[in-house]
Amino acid sequence: MGARFPPKHKFFKPQKIIVVSQGDFWSLYLSKFCRCAPCSAKSLTLLVLVMPAILLKAKPVTDALDSSLVEKIKQFQKKKKRVPTLATVLVGEDPASQIYVGSKGKKCLELGLGHQDYKLSAKTSEKELLSLLKKLNGDKKIDGILVQKPLPKNISEWAVLDNLSFSKDVDGFTSTNFGLLAQNRDCLVPCTPAGIMALLKFYKIDVAGKKALVIGRSDIVGKPIGLLLLHANATVTYAHSRTTSMSDEVANADIIVSAIGKSAFLNSKFSFKKNAVIIDVGINRDSAGKVCGDADTESLISKVAAITPVPGGIGPMTIAMLMQNTVKAAYLREEMDYE
Ligand code: GUN
Repeated sequence: MGARFPPKHKFFKPQKIIVVSQGDFWSLYLSKFCRCAPCSAKSLTLLVLVMPAILLKAKPVTDALDSSLVEKIKQFQKKKKRVPTLATVLVGEDPASQIYVGSKGKKCLELGLGHQDYKLSAKTSEKELLSLLKKLNGDKKIDGILVQKPLPKNISEWAVLDNLSFSKDVDGFTSTNFGLLAQNRDCLVPCTPAGIMALLKFYKIDVAGKKALVIGRSDIVGKPIGLLLLHANATVTYAHSRTTSMSDEVANADIIVSAIGKSAFLNSKFSFKKNAVIIDVGINRDSAGKVCGDADTESLISKVAAITPVPGGIGPMTIAMLMQNTVKAAYLREEMDYE
């Protein structure tokens, strides 16, 4: 119906205003009767103004986290006469990995952390990589080591993790850190899941008692974010490529974490709870080559309460958590109190 707001109709008179609240978020519905000649034929003019979902942007969160981290870096430097230092190791020339590692190095520089950048040829053998790890494990001036995934097929990711000192494992991928996480004990928590929890905390989205759906079961994101949500008292469901009840799971969830790497996987064909919060971990390219997540944000913006943007959402949160883990690893190794 071609309603205008404010209407220019002669005898326009609003009859009723209804405000409907949507949990922490809200929508405003205005319904009005118009009795002017053109409209009286139709008898009812209905205006509906729906607040779009809140965009859970990373920038205010990372700004807050970074400024307190800079203080910690200064304290460390004052006491130890050196800066916490991250070593990144990239094997091969995968273009996406080159960009990710580049962003991590840039962020170290921005915050005043040390960064050592190891770029190895795609022909590097497993033995050569393990011997570099041995050297970095033993280097007192290196606090964190990150070996960028994926690795060339000739190198076992398990061999790499099993030869990485868990106290320098700033990805939180070693079996020691993963085991500690499963036991809800202090550890270096994987960066993307830690970033998701920090973002939820910043935006005051309480997960206790909520139904959380994790789509994807990777060791990097899916499994650990499920554990963190469980420890925060959410009721957690994992969905994956063999799940047959995806529509029902999505329709029942209060919080949806999607980490499957499929553009527009979450779209308006699904039904959502009106207070649903979507955490989009996907970093994909759409048919036009534009970076996008797993959710078709445009089509969901009026269907859910909040959604993380891509880019500008979980990606920068992951890097912020890597910086935090590097500083935490430095403090722990030097037996300083981190919290
Ligand atoms: N590849 C994609 N994501 C990650 C990550 O968080 N850490 C590492 N090391 N490799 C990755």
